[in-house]
This record gives sequence, structure tokens and C-alpha cells, in this order.
Amino acid sequence: MNLFFRKSMIAATGLFLCLFLIVHLSANCILLLPEEMAKEMYNSYSTLLRENPLIKIVAYALYLSIILHVIYALLVTLRNRKAKPDKYAVNHTKENSSWASQNMGLIGVLILLFIVVHLANFWARIKLGMGEGVGVDSYGNKDVYKVTSSLFHNIYYVIFYSLLMIPLGFHLHHGLKSAFKTLGFYHKTGLKFISKAALIYALIVSILFGIIPFIVYFK
Ligand code: HEM
Repeated sequence: MNLFFRKSMIAATGLFLCLFLIVHLSANCILLLPEEMAKEMYNSYSTLLRENPLIKIVAYALYLSIILHVIYALLVTLRNRKAKPDKYAVNHTKENSSWASQNMGLIGVLILLFIVVHLANFWARIKLGMGEGVGVDSYGNKDVYKVTSSLFHNIYYVIFYSLLMIPLGFHLHHGLKSAFKTLGFYHKTGLKFISKAALIYALIVSILFGIIPFIVYFK
């Protein structure tokens, strides 16, 4: 399998994951509403998504994308390590690339840690029925709001969720720019626009996801 195929897989799955994050963030912005309204809307929206057959197919595509994104990123990182030009007398890596691009490995590991903890907190409990049971609200919907609210009333989880949005922001900014380049987008003015759009996207996603736990904590 050549490098271009692997990088294209990282780019394509990454772009799909970026789209998912927009939908996921919009749903989680419901948590910013006043308590009673947030509870009803969050639980009914969550039920609507879980029970929609089309969304179920998209969810499988999402799980596959996460797995492929991680596997191909690992393969490319290992290959780059092997071919690392330590032997060159002059190494301009620091001047030619950003902090985020040089530390994609570390940032990726932190995000993976976040996703594993996050899926254990929510997905495994709500979808797989693992651990403590999830009750239902007065409309008979699974009380996903209560699961979220009780998690974010633990200050350690609030700090964990909010802090890990920092590497996520760096990853999204660098990843989005790289994805367009990998997929053959070389237009100079277009790339400048993409770079700005990637920065705005990364800031909105990481800041909003980062403040939601605090807002729920202080509600
Ligand atoms: C304030 C922050 C967040 C909250 C409150 C939150 C909440 C949730 C909830 C409640 C679920 C389960 C949905 C259900 O089955 O009904 C879920 C699933 C999920 N979340 Fe989050 N999330 C947050 C941030 C994130 C971030 C930053 C990512 C990715 C980097 C992420 C990735 C996922 C994934 C991949 C799933 C599984 C989706 C599925 O099975 O359909 N979440 N989240």
C-alpha cells in the first residue's frame, strides 16, 4: 500500500469526522439552554438519533472512520519515523513546520485517550447498557441529560474534558489544512482561505466543547 493511499485515507476519514463534530457540537449546544428545556430537548433529540435507521448506518461509518483514521495515522507515523532524516547535517524541520505538525503523534494519542474515556462515559453506558443503568425521563426517553449532568458535576471530569479540547483544537486546525493538501488542493489563494477557515472551525469546536462542561457544572 503506498503512502499516498494511506494519507488519502487519513484525509478522507478526517474530513468525515470533522463533519460529525459539527453535528455532535450542535446537539451538545442544547446543554447551554436552561435546565428544564435542555433536559427535554437533549433526551428527545438523542432518542431521535438512536432510533433512526439512517443514522445507525452513519454511526457505523463513523466507528469505521475512527478506526481507519487511527490505523493509517499509526502506519504513516511509523513509516516517517523509519525514514527520519536525523542523518542530515542540516535539519530545517523546526523552521518549516508548525508546533502542531511536529507533535501530531503526541496530540493524536491525547485525543485517542479522550475518545476512549468519552465512549466509556457515554456510548458504552447509553448504547451498550454497560455499567450503571440509564433511567428514563417523564417522556419515556433515556435520560442522557442526567448522565451528562452528573458526569459534569464532577470537577475532575470537567477539567479533563475541557483541557483535552486544547490538543483537539490544534489537531483540527493542522489536520484540516493537511487534508485538503493531501487530496490535491494546491491553489495558493484557496489554501490561504482554507487555512483561515480551518483556524475558525478549530477555535469554535474546541472552545464550545471546552466550555460546555463548565456551564453544566455551574448550572
Ligand atoms: C461537551 C462535550 C461532549 C459531550 C457532552 C458529549 C456527549 C455525548 C453523548 C451524550 C454521546 C452518546 C450519544 C447517544 O448515544 O445518545 C456521545 C457520543 C459520542 N461522542 Fe461525544 N460529547 C462531547 C464531546 C465529544 C468530542 C469532542 C468528541 C470527539 C473528539 C466526541 C465523540 C463522540 C463519539 C465518536 C460518540 C459516539 C457516537 C455514536 O455512537 O453515535 N464527543 N457524546
